[in-house]
Amino acid sequence: VHEGTSYLSIDFSKKREKDLLFEPSDLVGYAIPIGRDNFGNVIVWDYANNSTPHALVCGATGSGKSVCINSTAHYSVLAGIEDILIFDPKFEFTGLHGLNGIRVINEIEDIELEMAILVEEMNRRVKDKISKLKVVIVDEFADAVAQSRKGRELGKDKSLEENLRILVQKGRSLGYRVLAATQRASTKVITGDAKANFPVQICFRVPKIIDSKVVLDEPGAECLAGHGDGLIKSPQYPDIVRFQGYYKS
Ligand SMILES: Nc1ncnc2c1ncn2[C@@H]1O[C@H](COP(=O)(O)OP(=O)(O)OP(=O)(O)O)[C@@H](O)[C@H]1O
Ligand SMILES: [Mg+2]
Repeated sequence: VHEGTSYLSIDFSKKREKDLLFEPSDLVGYAIPIGRDNFGNVIVWDYANNSTPHALVCGATGSGKSVCINSTAHYSVLAGIEDILIFDPKFEFTGLHGLNGIRVINEIEDIELEMAILVEEMNRRVKDKISKLKVVIVDEFADAVAQSRKGRELGKDKSLEENLRILVQKGRSLGYRVLAATQRASTKVITGDAKANFPVQICFRVPKIIDSKVVLDEPGAECLAGHGDGLIKSPQYPDIVRFQGYYKS
């Protein structure tokens, strides 16, 4: 719309009057709608785009991460994806279990086990050369990793953290799409490695400017209004885009 024109945009924190409701017709192919920008354009995370296999979602408590996960899961179902796994240590998505092939795993021991099985399955996929899309969502992954056992306590088994890393690195070319969400915007959790492995970074309101810089390399997310007011950095867009996230009750 604004191609060839130059203009100055000023973003400020203003609470939107209306929620952006989940809109099935905003889905095109495997381009999962994340929200709409200030011009009303649909902002997407495209599972079919090889440069955007995985997404990191950050934000303070109550900023909109789980709402974003919920709409992403529903859009994924609509897109026809039959394999959706949600690791949900906070028991927020149990209602989605069983909906069109969605599986929700809550207990930390089960999360560890399922993640290990997932990696085994993925290794089999390498041989069989299957690359049907499979979506893996991990809410509060930093907490889950912190609660899980270390590899050495598991004997020869790999820890949750190791398995998640393998899944993300190997899975990108095998049809796995991973969304990992966390409240903790510290450099310990959001490392340079993490950012390289998760090319899409979605950031809702964070407490401090430093948090925004950790997630997006730029300030801004500390000024967001909450309630799904977000910023997305993705190879698919030349700049960081401000968006309003979808809400599905
Ligand atoms: N996109 C949105 N549109 C409208 N309201 C929203 C949106 N996202 C979040 N909210 C409001 O904010 C509340 C908290 O959102 P959400 O549960 O997603 O937070 P969260 O980031 O997951 O927090 P926590 O870290 O505590 O789990 C929601 O219950 C809803 O009322
Ligand atoms: Mg949440």
